[in-house]
Amino acid sequence: MGYLNFFTFDLLFMIIVFYVVRAENGTYVLNDRASLVSFMSQITSDPKNALENWNSSDVCNWSGLKCDNGSRVVNLTLSEKSLHGTIAPSLSKLSYLSILDLSGNFFEGHIPAELGSLSRLQAISLSSNRLEGYIPNELRFLHQLLYLNLGSNKLTGDIPMSIFCNGTSHVEYLDLSDNLFTGEIHLNNQCELKELKYLLLWSNYLVGEVPQALSNFSKLELLDLGSNLLTGELPSKIVGKMVHLQILQLSENRFSSHNGNTDLKPFFASLANCSNLTELNLAGNHLGGELPSIIGTLSTKLAKINLDDNHIHGPIPPEISNLVNITLLNLSNNILLNGSIPPELFQLGSLERMYLSNNSLSGHIPSAFGNVPHLGLLDVSKNKLHGTIPESFANLSQLRKLFLHDNQLSGPIPPSLGKCINLEILDLSYNRISRTIPIEVASLSSLKLYLNLSSNHLQGHIPLELTKMTMVLAIDLSSNNLSSTIPSQLGSCIALENLNLSRNIFEGPLPASIGNLRYLKELDVSFNQLTGEIPDSLQASSTLKQLNFSYNCFSGDITNNGAFSSLTIKSFLGNNRLCGSIEGMRKCHRKLTHNLLVAILLSLLITPIFCVAGYPLLLRSKFRRKSTVFNMKGIEDEKEAMRKEKKYPRISHRQLVEATGGFSPSTLIGSGRFGHVYKGVLQDNTRIAVKVLHFKADGEISGSFKRECQILKRTRHRNLIRIITICSTPDFKAIVLPLMPKGSLEDHLYPSHGPRCGLDLVQLVSICSDVAEGMAYLHHYSPIKVVHCDLKPSNILLDDDMTALVTDFGISRLVKVADENFSVNDSAAYSFGSTDGLMVWFVVQLVILLLNMEWESRHHLKEMFIALGVLLLEIAAGRRPTDILFKEGPTLHEWVKRHYPNRLEPIVEGAIERCAPCATVQLDSTKIWRDVILELIELGLICTQYNPLTRPTMLDVAYEINRLKQYLSSPSNLLIE
Ligand SMILES: *[C@@H]1O[C@H](CO)[C@@H](O)[C@H](O)[C@H]1NC(C)=O
Ligand SMILES: *[C@@H]1O[C@H](CO)[C@@H](O)[C@H](O)[C@H]1NC(C)=O
Ligand SMILES: *[C@@H]1O[C@H](CO)[C@@H](O)[C@H](O)[C@H]1NC(C)=O
Repeated sequence: MGYLNFFTFDLLFMIIVFYVVRAENGTYVLNDRASLVSFMSQITSDPKNALENWNSSDVCNWSGLKCDNGSRVVNLTLSEKSLHGTIAPSLSKLSYLSILDLSGNFFEGHIPAELGSLSRLQAISLSSNRLEGYIPNELRFLHQLLYLNLGSNKLTGDIPMSIFCNGTSHVEYLDLSDNLFTGEIHLNNQCELKELKYLLLWSNYLVGEVPQALSNFSKLELLDLGSNLLTGELPSKIVGKMVHLQILQLSENRFSSHNGNTDLKPFFASLANCSNLTELNLAGNHLGGELPSIIGTLSTKLAKINLDDNHIHGPIPPEISNLVNITLLNLSNNILLNGSIPPELFQLGSLERMYLSNNSLSGHIPSAFGNVPHLGLLDVSKNKLHGTIPESFANLSQLRKLFLHDNQLSGPIPPSLGKCINLEILDLSYNRISRTIPIEVASLSSLKLYLNLSSNHLQGHIPLELTKMTMVLAIDLSSNNLSSTIPSQLGSCIALENLNLSRNIFEGPLPASIGNLRYLKELDVSFNQLTGEIPDSLQASSTLKQLNFSYNCFSGDITNNGAFSSLTIKSFLGNNRLCGSIEGMRKCHRKLTHNLLVAILLSLLITPIFCVAGYPLLLRSKFRRKSTVFNMKGIEDEKEAMRKEKKYPRISHRQLVEATGGFSPSTLIGSGRFGHVYKGVLQDNTRIAVKVLHFKADGEISGSFKRECQILKRTRHRNLIRIITICSTPDFKAIVLPLMPKGSLEDHLYPSHGPRCGLDLVQLVSICSDVAEGMAYLHHYSPIKVVHCDLKPSNILLDDDMTALVTDFGISRLVKVADENFSVNDSAAYSFGSTDGLMVWFVVQLVILLLNMEWESRHHLKEMFIALGVLLLEIAAGRRPTDILFKEGPTLHEWVKRHYPNRLEPIVEGAIERCAPCATVQLDSTKIWRDVILELIELGLICTQYNPLTRPTMLDVAYEINRLKQYLSSPSNLLIE
């Protein structure tokens, strides 16, 4: 029992302890979570993408986190997650944190000093953020730290000495590069980073000398102090102790050589111990002195030497060739480096890139290239080299970039250069190279970047093989003696962006294919003897920015459009036969006068027509202005029409059949050329007239039907019949109109039974007025201009209150809307202003067009006027035009005209007599009636005697008839002049 008790107690104790411990660790876990949540709260960018799972219960599952076995966060790695915000000090609660990597984000603000309490931290990378301020001194407490990278931020101030000097530091990697640190590198002799292998302080504003204490950092393998403001002699004593040094970067500082910047020997001597040195960069320091021959005693591991941008003078020691593993040698921009190129350099079997440009090297380019199979770049430009280009370049099969420009090389381009089949850049410019461009070189299809042969003495023509350079971006053949024509095949150098053929003796035309080069930005053909016109393709090019055509023999017109719009006269100077609209350029006078002559001749030819058309032209121009206003109205109307169109009921064929009793003959109320009209009643008691169109296969009906529908749908006027709906199936087409209860004017003028006149003069004039209003609307205001060509009494329907509605638009003609005139006019005006060459063409076209339109429109309008005039005369005379025609020969209006003005009395009397029984007015109205009838006849005659110069407008006619109508209703108020 005691045992058991003890055992139980023991077990209980253990369970309690277990839970307490779990709980204790649990609270830590909770602390971890809380500090991470706090960290997350300081991130302002949308963290959802980067911080996925950062809401799940188990912290250890959160992305970027790693926990140890006890669920404590040990690694926090969130590099390159586009995180914005600040680094929360709460991170310091992650007391087990060993690795903190927030590099490559957009963190701002300071580095929290609290991080100094993360005593287990081994690695911190906050590089490539936007951190500001000082490095917190507290980081010195991070005794476990091996790796500290704060590079590429905006950190300022001095680099705290404590970072180097405090604690038992094990730091191996220290990167503070690419910040804004200032001041000296503070180190004293107590400072010792015994384990430091990598020290990167490049690209800051550090000043002063390299501290002597740095030599204590004896394990350094990489020392990069480049791009600072460091001064003093090259740190020979320091580097002399760094036996592990592999990479020494001291470039872009203000170091000097020993002995007053005259002696490089001590420094190179001190490097003798650096048996692992692979890279030495002293570029950009203005170092003086000669290049010592002991450079040849440096580690044979040395692969890269940068001594460019210094003041090193004297010859290149041939001993450099002892450095058999050199891949990169850069001695360029030393200006005073002279002597010849040691042929031994070309024995460096590993050499990949050699820069010797901008020195004073003289002599020949060594021709005895040995085994430099990897040489990809050779730059000996800007020296004083002379002699010929060695044939042996052919051995350099890996050569990609060859810069021999700005020397004094002479002789031909060796065809063997064509064997450098990997060549991407070939620059031989500014030499004295002569003869022709070898076909072999011209066929170097590998050339990717540029071919520059300019400023030599090359002769002959451009080899067609050059067109194989389909990848080349720039070709410069300028300032040679190249002749013949420019091959149009150059258009196959499709990648070309820059082509300079200037200052040669090219002749003939400039090929249009060049303008078609899709990427061409700059073209210079100046100072040649090119002739002909500048191809349109150049002007049309969307890529060309810079063009120079000057000093050639180009001819033709130039407009400042397209690619030429940004050019000045400078691009065209010295082409005496060019003219055009570039500012400062001669205007194309000669051509203009020639064109004007043609224009005058043409206008002489067309003057008679023009004069006839002149008045309507003016008139039309007035209308045109009006019609724009009306067109606005038209648009409104159209919108309304759309709305209404929705309201058009759908009436099926079956419903129409029902409404008209199966189109029974008893419901037939009219027939016409295009079909029958039936009356009927819809189920909702709407009385309708159904105009069923004869259906013919030839499509004529279809066109007529469409036209009528189009007009009916779009015209809304109280005197024009309004459509109820359209019923259209492939083989049945009908227009449903409201039934006009009073029938047509025809029924009343020529009743088949009953009194001769169903209408009195007031009604007749009112009807005439209605018809004229409708016609005026159709012609002037309707969205589509309509000329009604079939105006006759049977097409004039009468409403309950005797309002007349014109119907049957089937053979109406649609007249072009006036807007089209505008566009013609605008483009003509534009052409007038911009191009003289096209001007005359446009003038002629415009005149012809306007005359055509005018003629067409006049022709149609004439028909409409005549139709209205005949209608007026018919009403006045009470006789059908056909009757006159058949019985008496002439047309109605000719017949009336024969009676005019002295023998009209019988006609007027007849009219009064016919309408007297219907009249409800006193007999003394006869005088008034007589006047009105005379007026109607006169108006009818004016309309039928169509004369474009004298005719009134349809509006005038409508106005006149309306005046008659009012006169009739209250004669005392108005006087007839
Ligand atoms: C933390 O990161 C280091 C370095 O990447 C790695 O060696 C270690 O295994 C990681 N720890 C855990 C718990 O994953
Ligand atoms: C708490 O977790 C840590 C690991 O994070 C572990 O080393 C320690 O033993 C745990 N404590 C107890 C009492 O289990
Ligand atoms: C840090 O180093 C400096 C200079 O060596 C010393 O004065 C200071 O007491 C050290 N501080 C700590 C916390 O080790």
